[in-house]
Amino acid sequence: MATETVVVIGSGIVGKSWAMLFASAGHQVRLYDSFPQALEAAPQQITEKLKSLEANGQLRGKIPADEQIALISYKNDLKEALKGATYIQECTPERLEIKSGVFQDLDKALAEIGNDKAVIGSSTSTIMPSKFIGDLSIKTRSVVVHPVNPPYFVRLVEIIPTSSTDPKVTAYVRQLLADLGQKPVVMNKELAGFALNRIQYAILNEMWRLVNDGVLSVEDADTVMTEGLAPRYCFIGPLETAQLNAEGFTDYCERYGEAIYDVSLTQTEIPKMTAEGSKEIDRQLQEKVPNAELQARRAWRDENLAKLAVFKKNLGIL
Ligand SMILES: NC(=O)c1ccc[n+]([C@@H]2O[C@H](COP(=O)([O-])OP(=O)(O)OC[C@H]3O[C@@H](n4cnc5c(N)ncnc54)[C@H](O)[C@@H]3O)[C@@H](O)[C@H]2O)c1
Repeated sequence: MATETVVVIGSGIVGKSWAMLFASAGHQVRLYDSFPQALEAAPQQITEKLKSLEANGQLRGKIPADEQIALISYKNDLKEALKGATYIQECTPERLEIKSGVFQDLDKALAEIGNDKAVIGSSTSTIMPSKFIGDLSIKTRSVVVHPVNPPYFVRLVEIIPTSSTDPKVTAYVRQLLADLGQKPVVMNKELAGFALNRIQYAILNEMWRLVNDGVLSVEDADTVMTEGLAPRYCFIGPLETAQLNAEGFTDYCERYGEAIYDVSLTQTEIPKMTAEGSKEIDRQLQEKVPNAELQARRAWRDENLAKLAVFKKNLGIL
């Protein structure tokens, strides 16, 4: 695997995670932030995190934490950060005007330093890439590279090229991510919500209906997922699940297609998830985990995701 010079733009939650992931594969990483105070805490946070992952047997990659830490440098000067860069991962806040500004800055800075090769991936979760990549000269080498939080333990990455992206660039990004040990999927066209959120929103809509129509309590609705669907989905997807639940997928459609259609006709009304309408779900959720304890619960979730990643690796299904 070739060693890349990776620049991560934005040192927030996702930027730090990407920096650690790229370093785990032996790449040189420059973590850049336009706010010096945001970058100040990053070296200590990353060092402590990598050392504790190593101590818990959860470190990604094949090189020790100390070597990974030494691969990451911290920059406040964009052009200096971009010199010789081969890959850039943008991780700035989820606002169209910020993404547009950053991509314009990158277009200009890369032209000024004569870097006409670096590929650029944006971490955006929701913004259609053509909206901020537009007609910039970097458009042929720009794509969305959308991770799932926390990318260190959840391996899916959605790659969304625009109609201007060079297919070779998409193939390069896919390979780069696969070499990191991530699981990239490529969308063949831009679609609102990309893939993961389209599916997640369909689930949330049904959860909202089931609880607000008084069919299930919040706890029971979540249990349908954690104890019903999720154990299988952890290692086989819904389509393969259907294939296995009959004598193949066509047989599944023959057996259940009609029933699925009839049920789906009762799901056509799309609920609007508003703050006002959320009170009952919020009340029941807080009976279990009060909002004041969310930070501890997130740490618990991440710890379990890390254990699950190690478990799947040991099972040989990563
Ligand atoms: N947090 C998640 O769960 C998650 C998951 C997947 C994707 N994403 C996406 O990742 C991106 C970053 O999210 P985050 O949660 O890390 O945000 P964050 O707010 O934690 O971090 C953003 C960082 O960008 C810096 N920044 C702001 N403007 C900048 C600029 N012009 N140039 C350089 N740095 C700048 C900030 O100082 C901050 O350090 C967003 O697009 C988000 O949608 C987030």
